Amino acid sequence: GIATGHKIDSHTVLYGVIGDPIRHSKSPIMMNRAFRETGINGVYSAFHITDDKLGDFVKGVRAMGIRGVNVTIPHKLRIMELLDDIHESARIIGAVNTIVNDNGKLTGYNTDGIGYVRSLKEEALPDLSGKRITVIGAGGASRGIVYALLLENPERVRIVNRSADRAAELAASLSGGSAPVEAASTDKLEEWCADADIVINTTSVGMFPDVGQSPVPGEWLKPGSVASDLIYNPLQTAFLKAAEARGCTAHGGLGMFIYQGAYAFEYWTGQPAPAAAMREEVLASLL
Ligand code: ATR
Repeated sequence: GIATGHKIDSHTVLYGVIGDPIRHSKSPIMMNRAFRETGINGVYSAFHITDDKLGDFVKGVRAMGIRGVNVTIPHKLRIMELLDDIHESARIIGAVNTIVNDNGKLTGYNTDGIGYVRSLKEEALPDLSGKRITVIGAGGASRGIVYALLLENPERVRIVNRSADRAAELAASLSGGSAPVEAASTDKLEEWCADADIVINTTSVGMFPDVGQSPVPGEWLKPGSVASDLIYNPLQTAFLKAAEARGCTAHGGLGMFIYQGAYAFEYWTGQPAPAAAMREEVLASLL
């Protein structure tokens, strides 16, 4: 191992990620790198937990004192009823991706949306206050992101979705905060991209293997604006290529994955996450 590594011993603290499927997950390599980098004596594994085993898993977390768990598809909703406390981030989004175990008291958080926003600020646009933001898509990922964007004092957030009803429901449930939240069908896409400072794709359009598709033609974007895609397979989507050709700043989805993990690491350990090393490790595994 590298010089900053640690040995697994009788003090090693356990962590992990649960999902079904889970064997594709990059979280173990990323989080174990974070433990090595900081010299924290922890180990992070992937657990294949099917729906019928979720209750037993949570009992196991309490019994074994597993300190932290990340939760992915399909358990992000159902896990909530098995925890002792739900943080506001997870309550408003309606999904948990991170569990903190404080001596048997399990609290559910959601770090996806705030992880995305931290990535956007670090990698593309440091200050989101006063910005006009258009979000394409109104699913679970969109909900987390819109929630987190509204904490940043934007001028407004507009949600455009193939099914207008879903966009309207999402906007209604998240409005009443610091900025107006508007919703429309994709009929409004061109108009709502034209004056946006940031356009964010939260849909699966352009994801491997349909890599040729873009949710918006590049010509609809404002030159100089930021185009952001949650997709990280491929790292450079058709949307981001079109945006760069238009003179926009491209922001890819890998940072969201890194920073949702960085926040989880910070909640568990109380220490700053080594985000650059975590990114390096994930990137190396993708190439
Ligand atoms: P996630 O958790 O990734 O957000 P989801 O909740 O299933 O997944 O939401 C998928 C989003 O991508 C939705 O906004 C969906 O649009 P609809 O609500 O109209 O279904 C959008 N989406 C998926 N495939 C799409 C496509 N081919 N064209 C346009 N939008 C698409």
